[in-house]
Amino acid sequence: MKGIILAGGAGSRLFPLTLVASKQLQPVYDKPMVYYPLTTLIEGGVREFCLISTPHDLPRFKQLLGDGSAWGLSIDYREQPKPQGIAQAFLIAESFIGNDAVTLILGDNVFYGSDSFHRAFAEFKGGATIFGYHVNDPERYGVVAFDAGGHAISIEEKPSQPKSNYAVPGLYLYDNNVVSITRNLKPSARGELEITDVNVEYMRRGQLRVHRLSRGFAWLDAGTSSSLHEASAYVQTIEKRAGIKIGCPEEAAFRRGFLSLAQLEALTAKMPKCEYHEYLGEVVAEAKRLAS
Ligand code: TTP
Repeated sequence: MKGIILAGGAGSRLFPLTLVASKQLQPVYDKPMVYYPLTTLIEGGVREFCLISTPHDLPRFKQLLGDGSAWGLSIDYREQPKPQGIAQAFLIAESFIGNDAVTLILGDNVFYGSDSFHRAFAEFKGGATIFGYHVNDPERYGVVAFDAGGHAISIEEKPSQPKSNYAVPGLYLYDNNVVSITRNLKPSARGELEITDVNVEYMRRGQLRVHRLSRGFAWLDAGTSSSLHEASAYVQTIEKRAGIKIGCPEEAAFRRGFLSLAQLEALTAKMPKCEYHEYLGEVVAEAKRLAS
């Protein structure tokens, strides 16, 4: 499965921070925001990426992530000149997707906990798989409602009267039909190609699976100053308590077998002395202990 990271948009709610760097390059505690969605997809087994951003911000992402080879990945880049909808990503990345299935993750979504995604990636056979997450403020999101048997019966974009508290987080898995489905979409009243319309079409075809994420799972969207701060505080709390790092692409690539132990060690050796360096040093030391 190929992976798209959508990291464009206006980021207007983070002004004036976004005068300095785009939203997805802002720090979430100790790493750039884009590290988190990238790591989520690596953990799902994705190795080939396309990152989409604005013409203005794309060079900074290239500078940060390069062609991905240092982490055993490949990363292509495409421009989205205007934020004309999340689903537009499938048209922009059409040549990257080719004949494959594709997963799309939003560059400002931070996920942590449980193995729900691993299972969804491993079990994906076709159609579409999306997730439902219980939130306090569903009207800000795509909202999915279920029948008594737990089957999804409706999905609505930012409804004023939500039919449930289940929001659809910014991680979606699709078969290759997503490209032709998107090509046939009409822009919504706000002038965007809506990801909700893609999901509604899969539901109409009887090909939509919705996994409800468990209560212990964290989904943070770091799009406002408050939620950015909360996401940082959350990551700091977990990292300090558990002595692990969330959103560490090098570690995820190593654990997935995209990087060898020797490659991880060499990468770590090149880093300046800092907590990140120390952490990866411990990952290397532990892997050596286990191997001996
Ligand atoms: P939003 O948070 O809805 O929009 P935004 O990032 O432009 O922020 P603001 O509302 O503060 O102006 O977008 C969710 C994510 O999707 C975010 O990571 C940006 C990305 N996105 C695009 O890259 N292109 C698009 O056309 C849209 C609609 C969103």
